[in-house]
Amino acid sequence: MCGIVGVVGNRNATDILMQGLEKLEYRGYDSAGIYVIDNPDNSRLIKSVGRIADLRSKIGIDVAGATGIGHTRWATHGQATEENAHPHTSATGRFILVHNGVIENYLQIKEDFLAGHDLKGQTDTEIAVHLVGQFVEDGLSVLEAFKKALHIIEGSYAFALIDSQDPETIYVAKNKSPLLIGLGEGYNMVCSDAMAMIRETSQFMEIHDKELVILTKDQALVSDYDGHPIERDSYTAELDLSDIGKGTYPFYMLKEIDEQPTVMRKLISTYADEQGQMTVDPAIIKSVQEADRIYILAAGTSYNAGFASKSMIETLTDTPVELGIASEWGYNMPLLSKKPMFILLSQSGETADSRQVLVKANAMGIPSLTITNVPGSTLSREASYTMLLHAGPEIAVASTKAYTAQIAALAFLSKAVGEANGKKEALDFDLVHELSLVAQSIEATLTEKDLIADKVEKLLATTRNAFYIGRGNDYYVAMEASLKLKEISYIQCEGFAAGELKHGTISLIEDDTPVLALISSSEVVAAHTRGNIQEVAARGANVLTVVEEGLHKEDDDIVVNQVHPYLSSISMVIPTQLIAYYASLQRGLDVDKPRNLAKAVTVE
Ligand code: F6R
Repeated sequence: MCGIVGVVGNRNATDILMQGLEKLEYRGYDSAGIYVIDNPDNSRLIKSVGRIADLRSKIGIDVAGATGIGHTRWATHGQATEENAHPHTSATGRFILVHNGVIENYLQIKEDFLAGHDLKGQTDTEIAVHLVGQFVEDGLSVLEAFKKALHIIEGSYAFALIDSQDPETIYVAKNKSPLLIGLGEGYNMVCSDAMAMIRETSQFMEIHDKELVILTKDQALVSDYDGHPIERDSYTAELDLSDIGKGTYPFYMLKEIDEQPTVMRKLISTYADEQGQMTVDPAIIKSVQEADRIYILAAGTSYNAGFASKSMIETLTDTPVELGIASEWGYNMPLLSKKPMFILLSQSGETADSRQVLVKANAMGIPSLTITNVPGSTLSREASYTMLLHAGPEIAVASTKAYTAQIAALAFLSKAVGEANGKKEALDFDLVHELSLVAQSIEATLTEKDLIADKVEKLLATTRNAFYIGRGNDYYVAMEASLKLKEISYIQCEGFAAGELKHGTISLIEDDTPVLALISSSEVVAAHTRGNIQEVAARGANVLTVVEEGLHKEDDDIVVNQVHPYLSSISMVIPTQLIAYYASLQRGLDVDKPRNLAKAVTVE
């Protein structure tokens, strides 16, 4: 989604903005722009459709100054054109603004306050900067005009505003959309996420919803919209610059797939001590123990991770688990149990759909736990409790290591709760040992990349559609595997419960339709899935099998080391991540930045 970066102070703003925007590329965007100002008589606004590289090619040495704002736009209102790209300017050109989010009442504002204003594009953003400009024309100071606009604007937003007559200040405000302040010596910054600023500083300051910040080179003054000052401490980010590089890898996705054994081991050292005792926060354990039902709310891959963990959580904790699609539950909350507990699963911790559910849950007094990869993210701050994934930054849009880390984190939570409940299944389950075996199983699969690339070339080179099938946990892995394949290779793919295919969808199977079958469950279940493979093969399907060792046969295509059944979703998903990766690579696509997608989906 849209990304913001801004800087004021004693630095080369053009350089910092461009580096920052490059670091934000992973979030997904379709146009970009920067505004740089040296003094009121020397400023430049440059925008471009397409990649940051296209923007860079338009920037000459004349674009220089110590203050500036930059933006990557993921189109919501209006197409990806230069007119709609940010920064936007007020009617006279005096004010310049970037925005992330959606202004819900922009048409009303236009009607009520901006009659006669000539807007250049179709965005909701442009009205915000026109509004500030209009209020200043009406006689308000810049600060008063910004505050008045903030009182009127409804929806989600992160704003950074510059008055070209005062190049030493950036006005910042946010509601629901992520925004952070970065603090330097003689300069300060504002940005959608820490990754874009980590090259410049490791000192950050949070901004909460409906707060305004006046940013100068020496100060970041926080207040509410009525001007009451707010004290806010800074913190040091743990991010390491080397974590966000891709080293010698051609794509981040491959690096992140390869990092999964390390992530599993990191989770072991985080959530268990050297004796193998769980170190999950006792307050979280108690909260889950008190619940009569666990509700997992998430979107996309995180939702799939919830499903892949459902039966493990139920078996280990004895508590029923229900899954909810966040974008549905935010406004259509079903009848809940008497003592619900909500678990928000989110790699980014910023997904607007999930946040809407959390806002509702908080209003209803429901205890909540966010399991996320990003400390200090919105969902983490606003939930009752947080468990971190410790997977390191995930830059590729297609989530891989966050998915497997989510299942592993839920395993630690489930075992800790089950032990506290005295459940035999939990007490007997040596999670530390079993997860070490999972790490080894992943390592073994990672040595099969050439084999997998070869199978993919034969199976998926030209196809427009495909199916994944499986039963039990393999069905849930099939859902994730098909999401991964379609999002980065653009092959239309469905994940099916193997037994369900013959109830309708089998009519789509014709000569050479690729069907990828996952088999990791018990022998009986495996036999049923093999029966389903026969059914599709008899109708011409081209079948590829991914089978757990012990259940495999000689002519199976990919064999995965056996792991504990609670954790098989982790080991079984690895080949499917590589299948998606090679399918995308072989089609010459941008593996890390698939079209139309964004990494942090910060609009509903
Ligand atoms: C797909 C993918 C998405 C996200 C979804 C939710 O590879 O990453 O489906 O899982 O947008 O995002 P988070 O997990 O950040 O809440």
